[in-house]
Parts: sequence; structure tokens; C-alpha cells
Amino acid sequence: MVPSHVRAITLLVIACFMPASIWGRSCSRYHDDLPRLVISWADAGESSTEVHTLAHPCLDWAIFGHYKAELLSENQLPEIVPYRNDPIKTVLRAELSKIINHLVDEIKTIKKRGSITLRDCIMLKDRNFNYQTSSGLVIVKLKNHPFVIKLFMENPHSFAHPCSKGMEPALFFLMSGGMSRFMAGLTRIPNMLAIRTKVEASPIWRDRIALPRKWFWVPEKNRHLHMAGYNMGSYPVESIDIPAVYAVICDEIKIERALSYASAQDRIDVLEFVRFIGNNRLDPNIPNYVIEKGTGKLCAIDTEHFGAFMGMREPLEYNGFFRHYFTLGCKFIRDGLFTSKRQHAEKRAHPINTDVSLSAG
Ligand SMILES: Nc1ncnc2c1ncn2[C@@H]1O[C@H](COP(=O)(O)OP(=O)(O)O)[C@@H](O)[C@H]1O
Ligand SMILES: [Mg+2]
Repeated sequence: MVPSHVRAITLLVIACFMPASIWGRSCSRYHDDLPRLVISWADAGESSTEVHTLAHPCLDWAIFGHYKAELLSENQLPEIVPYRNDPIKTVLRAELSKIINHLVDEIKTIKKRGSITLRDCIMLKDRNFNYQTSSGLVIVKLKNHPFVIKLFMENPHSFAHPCSKGMEPALFFLMSGGMSRFMAGLTRIPNMLAIRTKVEASPIWRDRIALPRKWFWVPEKNRHLHMAGYNMGSYPVESIDIPAVYAVICDEIKIERALSYASAQDRIDVLEFVRFIGNNRLDPNIPNYVIEKGTGKLCAIDTEHFGAFMGMREPLEYNGFFRHYFTLGCKFIRDGLFTSKRQHAEKRAHPINTDVSLSAG
């Protein structure tokens, strides 16, 4: 049995338990002491009818902890963006902005999954996107520039319905204390910067590893979600206003070879690298790694903070894929089915760490 089978079986087992663990208790029928998120449009005022509540015992303060307004402004696209492999060639931020604004409008008009044709982009992944509610994550590459766009969209209703955007976000909702792809997406850049610093300081890894550059983008006329949390552990009430649409723009990595679970050497290389980076920063899932054309380097394209998305409180050991997926499967079952009210309360008293910067180790 190869690791991809183990991963598939783990996901299947988890999926069997999912309805009981997530929907066993209706999100809209809550007690006043249950942790809850109340989500509305920040600009809509008190009388707005678009106020939605998500209540679940697993909700953790970490949901708020990943957002800081300066995170987006400090890592925004420069005015002129040189191409990764040909720095003489450049594209203006204004041009990329025009393309992404058009992409957002185009995506909103699509109401059905299928073969989707976009004006400036090619769809890479929309498995975690709900076209009915125009919410979730779509990943596209640009037709005329070497960049990949990871576009995150939410609204108060979609945010309060974590199971409406595909199986992965629903699975990880429980494990991560309510983290969505939307909130976890915010970790992609600070985590990448920390990984890059660690790689560059290592004489062993700096010539072996490539990482795409990444920037945040937010539309100029962007509505904000207002999210207020209640009964979420040590932080009795907390609220944030967060852009309802944002994107992560990455260098497109030209692929010489995709890594494979079938190759023992690929598995060893990925685990060795993920262990070196440590601190639960990287997901060792093999499709997240490729060999870059031209440099022959191992490239980590997915830098979402794995520990944040999985709600890990202890460092993972990454001693093999079988054990890794087994550990995650057990965690899901424990979080979903065998965590008592008291244990949930104890967890909330010690929120999941949200520091993904270099200083976190
Ligand atoms: N920078 C990139 N260059 C080339 N392909 C990419 C890049 N980023 C993502 N992709 C493609 O999109 C897929 C999904 O991206 P990823 O960041 O892994 O999303 P997710 O977090 O949903 O797994 C990747 O497996 C890869 O095929
Ligand atoms: Mg991935």
C-alpha cells in the first residue's frame, strides 16, 4: 500500500465520521455559553439582515489571531513586478490588479462547476469553491504572465457555513478550531518568509530548495466582514474587520517533474525537508512539491501553515507517511467524536498558537 492510498483511506474514514461530528449538533441551535462567531458586513450597520452565527464547541480564538491589517499592507505587490525567470521582463501592479479584478467579477457570474473558460486565466483548482455562494478558494494561473493567483472570497453567510465549500475545509474545520481556508490563507506569506529565511541560513538546503515569491492583493473597493467572537476561551469577546476578498499572488513554478508517492527517494526528500523546517510549518503531502525546470531544485509551492490548518498543538514528527496520516486520522476522530465539553473548554483556555513568523522557531 503506497502513502497516497493511506491518505485516501484516512480521508475516507474521516468522511464517514464527519456528519456525526460536525452536524450532530446544529450550528443554528446553540446555547448562550457555546463559542460562537457572529458575522456581518462591516459597512452594513446595526439594521443589516445579513447577520449570521456559527456556533460550535470547537471554535478557537486562533481564528482571529492570524489576521493583522499590516500583514496585507506589508506584503502587498510592488508597483513593478519582475518575472521570476527573466527579471528584465516586468509587469505593473496596475496590470495584475486589472486582471484579478476581472477574475473576481468573472468568477461571481459562474454558477456551476465544470469546464470553465476565463478571459485571462486558466483554472488550476476550484475544489474548495462554492459557485452558488461565490465563496471559497480558487487557484488559477495567468495566461500572459508567469504568476499563479490564489483567490479567497467569503461573505457573512458563507463564512457561517464552513461545510459548504467542499470536503477538505469541512474536514479540517473541527481539527483546526474552526479555521477556514480563508483564514489559513493568511499564513501562506509569513510562513513562506520564515521558511525562506531558514533555508537561506542552511548550507545544506540553500542550494537544493526553491520557493516562489508571494504577495497579497486586495481589491480597491473591498467590503469587509465584521466577525465577533463570544465565549472563545481566554478572549471573551473579540472582533475583527477583514477584507471579504483577497488574493495571494505567487510566481508560477515551471515544472520539470512532479514528485510522486511511488518514489521512495521523493518521499525521503520531502520528509527530510519538512523535518528540517519543523514547527509544523509544512504539509508533507507530495503534490505540494515539484522539481523546478531550469534549476532542478525541490520547490515547495504550498506554504500554508500546516499546524494552523490542522490545529496542531504539539510538533509532528514526520517519521513516515503511514504514521503521519494515521496520526492525523486519529486526531480527527478524537477532535470530532471523543472530546467532551470540559475538554473543549480546556482547549479554549489555551488557544492554538497563531505566531507563524520566524520568531516562532
Ligand atoms: N506557484 C505555483 N506554480 C505552479 N503551480 C502551482 C503554484 N501554486 C499552486 N500550483 C498548482 O495548484 C495546486 C494547488 O495549489 P496549493 O497551493 O497546493 O493549494 P492547496 O492549499 O489547495 O493544496 C498545486 O498542486 C499546483 O498544481
Ligand atoms: Mg496543496
